[in-house]
Amino acid sequence: MKTPLFIVIATALTMGSAIVQAADTSAGKTKYADSCAQCHGPTGKGMASFPSLAGRDADYITSRLETYRAGEKVGSNSALMIPNAADLSDDDIANLAAYISENFQ
Ligand code: HEC
Repeated sequence: MKTPLFIVIATALTMGSAIVQAADTSAGKTKYADSCAQCHGPTGKGMASFPSLAGRDADYITSRLETYRAGEKVGSNSALMIPNAADLSDDDIANLAAYISENFQ
């Protein structure tokens, strides 16, 4: 018996999505508390020249962190932020972006 095409496609899609790993928000939380909260605040509200991260979506945070990691300036205080992004891995960025966007409103 031939397998109907829709089953083949559904199986392929399921397997494909299993390969894409979900971000680990609890790892993001630990990383944030250790490396980010001292400037951006425990709930991401920011203070003085440290910008608020509240209400930002994951794509925005990811793109900003990748830009800083690459050593590129964004605003007038990028020199304070670039060293903090320099050692982040792709996983760190995904986990941080998920944690920040899901918890700081
Ligand atoms: C030494 C203080 C300091 C630490 C620690 C720090 N940041 Fe920042 N962050 C800043 C400053 C200052 C800016 C604004 C930089 C600019 O003007 O481009 C910034 C900008 C950002 C932005 C962009 C905000 C916007 O509105 O576009 C994100 C996202 C961010 N930081 C996330 C993080 C994360 C995640 C960590 C922890 C890995 C972290 N920061 C650690 C000081 C810090």
